[in-house]
Amino acid sequence: MLVKIRQVWFFVALVVLNCLPEPVCQAAEADPTLQVLHWWTSPRERKAASLLANRLMDEGVAWKDVGVPGGAGIGAGKVLKSRVLASDAPEVTQIIGASIRDWADLGFLLELDKVANANKWKTAFFPTIQTLIQYRHHVVAAPLGIHRINTLFYNRKLFSSLKLAAPESWNDLVNVAAKLKTAGIKPLAQSSEPWQVATLFENLILAENGPDFHREVFSRQNPQAVLERRFLVALERLRLMKSWMIQAIDERPWPDVVRQFANREAAMMIMGDWAKAELNETDYETDLEFSCATMPGTGRFHLYSVDTFSMFTKDYAHVAAQEKLARLIGTSQMQNEYNAAKGSVSVRQDADPNKMDSCARASWSDFAQGAAMQAPSLAHRMATDESSRDAIIAVIHRFFIDDALSPAETQKRLAALFRTLNMNIRK
Ligand code: GAL
Repeated sequence: MLVKIRQVWFFVALVVLNCLPEPVCQAAEADPTLQVLHWWTSPRERKAASLLANRLMDEGVAWKDVGVPGGAGIGAGKVLKSRVLASDAPEVTQIIGASIRDWADLGFLLELDKVANANKWKTAFFPTIQTLIQYRHHVVAAPLGIHRINTLFYNRKLFSSLKLAAPESWNDLVNVAAKLKTAGIKPLAQSSEPWQVATLFENLILAENGPDFHREVFSRQNPQAVLERRFLVALERLRLMKSWMIQAIDERPWPDVVRQFANREAAMMIMGDWAKAELNETDYETDLEFSCATMPGTGRFHLYSVDTFSMFTKDYAHVAAQEKLARLIGTSQMQNEYNAAKGSVSVRQDADPNKMDSCARASWSDFAQGAAMQAPSLAHRMATDESSRDAIIAVIHRFFIDDALSPAETQKRLAALFRTLNMNIRK
């Protein structure tokens, strides 16, 4: 009862401040308040964040939103570093993949073992998620959802008017692209922004070669692996795909690429499944206007990025509120609601795939097959730490931009980079 009264007053305070919770807004009057730094700034991402903020508010905790634009967290990572250096870390931050380990290693992250044990996270979450959120046997992150990076979106109406089937192999894809071109339709909506080019390239590495080769290259950074012929083939394919784009050099933010696809400016798009949520937001319906398939050649492999929130310890003044948010994130209800809005899938093994749309059902079921079918995304920091990721992406991006640069020279550059990175004793 007391909680309810507090909620009503809190809501009244927000209205007086002209600050409604939808979209997420700053709730300066509320106590306790958690600052949440993230990179969800597209309309649908904001909706998913609002869902979390509203549920948190039901528990008497206000969410002070710090959304930093920049796909894949390019801007948010920089803002976080400078705020920490200025002793002004937010209480909650979207820190994902290998970056969790790096921040935990510096001793900044709150241990969430109490929440994890009380809510049986060990049995509730997929094993890969367990590993990801732990550092030195302590839970230091709360998992929100699993995104699939090897998603091929195709325009159903365009495909059926040209009697095309969703491509399953590289040869199918080449044939489909040729037919689309003949019909005067651009095959691919794609940005030349570095992380988006890296997304396409890691899809090409996964296709045909499988998760083990993907790990050999991007996680283990084996110099020999990049000198193999199959790596060269992937580079050649990347260059060919450049000729399928609306405009080859065009560093668009990802929501603009989604808009191009929705406006029928191109028939296909290879992008993480957050794009599905954005398409739905513009009334572009799954399995009506478009469908999801996997990147040709990747079959049931799952190239993943897992969104996680870590909590900064600071002076331990916000622990109760931080634990409330962590607990909430792991619940079945929050997982189902949030992931349906975000385009990702639940991290819980007891989720019900029958309640998901076709893209989510395939993603969740394929992820559930286990680690042998999973590949950690390079572009989203799942495969390696932030600086190694940036260095690898820079080499791939240079190759993409500069047609005079040969695949063989790029292989040599990456092999040299991997030798340097391997000197890092933590690998
Ligand atoms: C990923 C993140 C997603 C989405 C995407 C585009 O790194 O996991 O939630 O925000 O970037 O920015």
